[in-house]
Amino acid sequence: MTGSAGQGQRLPLVFLIGYRGTGKTTVARLLAGRLGWSWLDADAVLEAKWGQTIREIFDQEGEPGFRDKEAAVLEELCSLENHVIATGGGIILREDNRRSLRQGRVIWLTADAQTIWTRLQQDAATAARRPNLAQGGLDEIETLLLQRAPWYAACTDVMVDTTTKSPEEVAALLGEFLLGPN
Ligand code: S3P
Repeated sequence: MTGSAGQGQRLPLVFLIGYRGTGKTTVARLLAGRLGWSWLDADAVLEAKWGQTIREIFDQEGEPGFRDKEAAVLEELCSLENHVIATGGGIILREDNRRSLRQGRVIWLTADAQTIWTRLQQDAATAARRPNLAQGGLDEIETLLLQRAPWYAACTDVMVDTTTKSPEEVAALLGEFLLGPN
């Protein structure tokens, strides 16, 4: 884990950012339990709000249509308190989103490309919910991880490499980071 607990005035929100398959949703739930907070998955909020899957939105409106909705949802979520929020992997692409995220504490979950590819292949929701963003497969993951790393880093308080860690281990580490050791 790399980062510092450097504080400043922040909203009582923790955002989990990072590429698909890095465990954001599971860790959000487990970490919220440790903090005694609630948790949400921003993509699930988006799908419920518009009554469509992300794949349907991509098919009908393309990626720009999806990104507009993603930004609107993030703005709404920033009015919450005491929530851990798992965000979609591309939330960091827009500068306004990065600024919004920085209002809370931001945790970047990462993993190596091969691990992410293996996890996504094992995840039944992948095909139904996750449209290809570039060429697909391991190549897409390698390309986008590299492209996006500076944007993830730009708004991150702490980064955790989840390649060899279970979601429970990641949540325990982060709980300690945010609350201090018991
Ligand atoms: C995306 C990741 C997805 C979802 C959309 C776009 C991305 O979220 O927001 O398909 O650009 O990486 P997950 O990271 O939860 O899979």
